Amino acid sequence: MDELLNTPAIAHGLRKVETRIRRLAGSSALPGINAGADRIITAGGKRLRPALTLATSLAFGKTPDRRVITAAACVELIHAGSLVHDDLMDHAMQRRGARTLNAELGEGKALVIGDFILARAGLAAITAVSRPVAEVLAATVVELAEGQFLETADQFNRERTVESALRSITGKTAALFRASCLVAAICAHASDEDRARMALYGERFGLIFQILDDLLDLTAPTERLGKPAGNDLRQGVYTLPVLRAMAKDPSVLHDDVDATLAALRETTIVGDTLEHCRGLASDALSALPVIHDRDIAAIMYGLPTAYIDHVERQTLTRAS
Ligand code: IPE
Ligand code: IPE
Ligand code: MG
Ligand code: MG
Repeated sequence: MDELLNTPAIAHGLRKVETRIRRLAGSSALPGINAGADRIITAGGKRLRPALTLATSLAFGKTPDRRVITAAACVELIHAGSLVHDDLMDHAMQRRGARTLNAELGEGKALVIGDFILARAGLAAITAVSRPVAEVLAATVVELAEGQFLETADQFNRERTVESALRSITGKTAALFRASCLVAAICAHASDEDRARMALYGERFGLIFQILDDLLDLTAPTERLGKPAGNDLRQGVYTLPVLRAMAKDPSVLHDDVDATLAALRETTIVGDTLEHCRGLASDALSALPVIHDRDIAAIMYGLPTAYIDHVERQTLTRAS
């Protein structure tokens, strides 16, 4: 992941994306909205999704231009807006190491600031990128809402199926990773086949990303996450790693969250989840189109496994 974020052409593009994000997030006529939007944007965040947009543009041989920079900013804004709403839904107090908007400003203000951020991204996409890109991003917000809805519908459902969890994370997370790649492929006028390939790569990586986020929620300490650990179980969200552990041994799920966390620690959940993700990584790589730039090809091919290795190291340091 560091390779992706620190590659000079991507790091250079990300600085421009940052300027665009901040301008868009600060563009309301109401200073209170700007202050709230600025809070979540400046609290931190890896900027992984816009980095993927820039990398995809470079993969198709295009130096990211103004439209690609705006598209990347829109992708990050949609992510940020969805986090504001997600924290509201979870009653979360901490995000990116800072207090959440719902904790700081109350639920009503957090709700509409999330709306503002999402809608501002849509407006920028249609006015400053292109209609096809705006269409992809709007469809992504639809999928995101559906994915989040499905998760809510399954809360505390001990019968939740792996298929249902997969459908939820495909909508709530993988769709935006897919769009992060697809918008750049569209801007680069890539062929239909190459667009589909890049989109599939993004989607597969997005699934890996969410499944590992779900794993870290069970294994990593709050200080490292910048958000509370064990939160999914506390919210009654039985994530894919948990469901797969339950399929092996249903008795791991207890009414008490700490008891479940302790029981899960005795299982092979870490190894099983990492192995599952390595399978998805190989699917992601087989989707990639031909990339002529050797540095960018190395980054795109290396990213899924590098990220899995990074999480594996995090779970190992925890265990030792
Ligand atoms: C958090 O995403 C939400 C998930 C999809 C798991 P990130 O881990 O990319 O969050 P930031 O942007 O770095 O804060
Ligand atoms: C990702 O899911 C949230 C969105 C895609 C909006 P999570 O609920 O796992 O995200 P975190 O763990 O709160 O960052
Ligand atoms: Mg959450
Ligand atoms: Mg999570």
